[in-house]
Amino acid sequence: MILQSCWAEELSTSSFSREARDLYNCREGDHKMISRLVILLRRAKDILQTEGLATLLRRSLKFVQAWFFKCGEYYLYELALGGTSQVDFMPSVNGLTCEIISTNNEADALAAAVGFDFRRRFINARKSLDKGAIAFCVLFKGQMASIGWVALSEEAKKSLYSLPQKVDFSKGEAYIGGLETIPEYRRKDLASYGSVRRLQFLNERGITNTRYAVSASNIGAQTLAAKFGLEKYAEARYLKLLWWKSWTEIPLAQSRHGD
Ligand SMILES: CC(C)(COP(=O)(O)OP(=O)(O)OC[C@H]1O[C@@H](n2cnc3c(N)ncnc32)[C@H](O)[C@@H]1OP(=O)(O)O)[C@@H](O)C(=O)NCCC(=O)NCCS
Repeated sequence: MILQSCWAEELSTSSFSREARDLYNCREGDHKMISRLVILLRRAKDILQTEGLATLLRRSLKFVQAWFFKCGEYYLYELALGGTSQVDFMPSVNGLTCEIISTNNEADALAAAVGFDFRRRFINARKSLDKGAIAFCVLFKGQMASIGWVALSEEAKKSLYSLPQKVDFSKGEAYIGGLETIPEYRRKDLASYGSVRRLQFLNERGITNTRYAVSASNIGAQTLAAKFGLEKYAEARYLKLLWWKSWTEIPLAQSRHGD
């Protein structure tokens, strides 16, 4: 890392040839590829340890397949903010805290404090933080147990999720997503607690509406959405074949927006 930044400084302060710059760019590209590979391998190890070989194989296959082909049905939800009902929720377990992380420096500090770096588990986390996404890390007795993300810009949203759900950030809308509770902590209200904290955060920032997409087969995430009064406003179909992509939103008859 230090070597790499010395190299960058050297290149920018001297009249190196174009070839030298290309070489540097190439090394920078290699470096990014290697760090991504390391994160992927660590993630694979975590899944193997926490969810077993069958889950690892299934998710690896899905991950590789998604580069070429992806097809899915989604439910699109939204919630008008400004109410108070969501903030009355009390989780069923004690010992929960939530850390709001907006930068990689803050993530470094949290990792040093709790002895576990959540970016090891969530492959794009480092990039998402760089793009402005905000991570809500739920800790149970000091252990990292659940995560959820908030995006306040299109760039941050894209770094979190590839689905092109429409969110009008210029009109005070936000996007929530990237929820995951570590399997051993599931069904203990951790995602609910993290959701309350995210909704409080958005309310305090004057956000008027927040949107969210869930796979039509994901019952857990749909139950969570219903619990917090998110309204299903559309269904969507996504199809990706190599570089070709199609996204169709079908508004529900009772949609408030009808867009
Ligand atoms: C979806 C997920 C985040 C829920 O996390 P969690 O910490 O277990 O959620 P909570 O304990 O706060 O549960 C919230 C509600 O959903 C319900 N729920 C959670 N998982 C469920 C499941 N698999 N089936 C049915 N209901 C479920 C809970 O019963 C609870 O409802 P209740 O209060 O009425 O009983 C978790 O299952 C997960 O990480 N799944 C894999 C990743 C994923 O699918 N993320 C969502 C992508 S947007």
